[in-house]
Amino acid sequence: MTEQKSIGVGLISVGWMGKLHARAYTSVPYVYPELGIIPRLVIAADAEQSRVNFAISVLGFERGTKDYREVLNDPEVDVVSICAPNFLHAEMAVAAAEAGKHFWIEKPAGRSLAETAAIQAAVERNGVETSIGFNYRHAPAIEHVRQLVVDGRLGEITNVRASFLAGYAAEPNGALSWRFERKLAGSGVLADLFSHAVDLCQYTVGAISEVTAATSIMFEARPKLSMGRGTHFDVIEGGELGAVENEDYAAALVQFAGPDRALKTVGTIEASRVAVGPECGYRLEIYGTEGSVKWDFERMNELQVVLGRANEEQGYTTTVASPKYGDYARFQPGPGNAMGFDDLKIIEAKKFLAAVAGGAELNSNIHDAVAAAAVVEAAEQSAQTRSWHSVEQQVGATCAR
Ligand SMILES: NC(=O)c1ccc[n+]([C@@H]2O[C@H](COP(=O)([O-])OP(=O)(O)OC[C@H]3O[C@@H](n4cnc5c(N)ncnc54)[C@H](O)[C@@H]3O)[C@@H](O)[C@H]2O)c1
Repeated sequence: MTEQKSIGVGLISVGWMGKLHARAYTSVPYVYPELGIIPRLVIAADAEQSRVNFAISVLGFERGTKDYREVLNDPEVDVVSICAPNFLHAEMAVAAAEAGKHFWIEKPAGRSLAETAAIQAAVERNGVETSIGFNYRHAPAIEHVRQLVVDGRLGEITNVRASFLAGYAAEPNGALSWRFERKLAGSGVLADLFSHAVDLCQYTVGAISEVTAATSIMFEARPKLSMGRGTHFDVIEGGELGAVENEDYAAALVQFAGPDRALKTVGTIEASRVAVGPECGYRLEIYGTEGSVKWDFERMNELQVVLGRANEEQGYTTTVASPKYGDYARFQPGPGNAMGFDDLKIIEAKKFLAAVAGGAELNSNIHDAVAAAAVVEAAEQSAQTRSWHSVEQQVGATCAR
């Protein structure tokens, strides 16, 4: 019998992600019993009292508060989840590190590269473990893709296409949540979805070194939504309008690092929050001299693969996720039983807690957040200057190469 270790959990913000983090922690002992970690939901904070009440009565937290500092000062809290809107991330993450708490923070870690770097500095000063909400990298099919690339099964990688097209704001009367205000969110779809696509590209292929981009706003004004109410999927008829302050759509050309190699890997990254059709159409295509792969989050358990130029049957084979891919076997014993979005958060929780407990460091970390923020910022600047921008490389990020 594995020795059981209790880890005290503090949660900051009980919105969509906060609820999901709480459920992910409690699933870890069921899915990964050999870790011997029993998360204990100690205290949750939210600015909205109704959400604090929900955390206690439904999620099972022992205590609740409207002041997140009480979470960080609680001696029974070992790890903290930071699931607040983006404008609070840097303040909360730096305070968590200074309080000596390991933290799992939602993306984007900061609203800018400078804010993300400030979090990184606090993490390094205080030696705490981190985890970033880059959940798509945990999809078993994606873990398999990374392995195919690292093992050279696709040959030299020639080009990559990542398109993260969502429809959550496709409706012109879609709510003006905090995501559309620059001081609350930072950039728009660049921070929200493009950053996920950047992380997937860097995790599966390698570090991005140069970017040029264009952005646009499709809808200039939307009906206002109060903080702590509803979700960013809400549609509001006849409400007071407020200005959309950040981009709905972004497209970039990127070049990957690798000056030692003759062949330069290049690619495109595109993201939209106003697409009509794809709802979470998050696609990654990787092309190499010996094969290629295609993945779409809307069909997260499938992977299209071609290995070898001279295969007898030309074209893609569609495979279904199986116990051979990533952490799939932890959820289902046999191939083809579909996993979902929430399962990716359980994998993320496990990687974080395992690292905190001194086990394997498979978690995404603050260096990955800085690596993604550097590309996002280069894209944002490039859209203004209409020129290529270079990206400083990050030591410690979990890029494929
Ligand atoms: N990894 C992913 O796929 C993913 C998906 C959605 C959101 N996110 C990220 O998660 C974060 C939260 O997004 P969400 O969709 O859960 O937001 P949400 O709007 O559903 O929830 C935000 C919560 O923060 C609370 N809050 C506001 N001010 C606060 C304060 N001072 N102290 C404590 N709580 C406060 C609000 O009352 C609300 O309950 C964002 O950074 C977002 O980018 C990541």
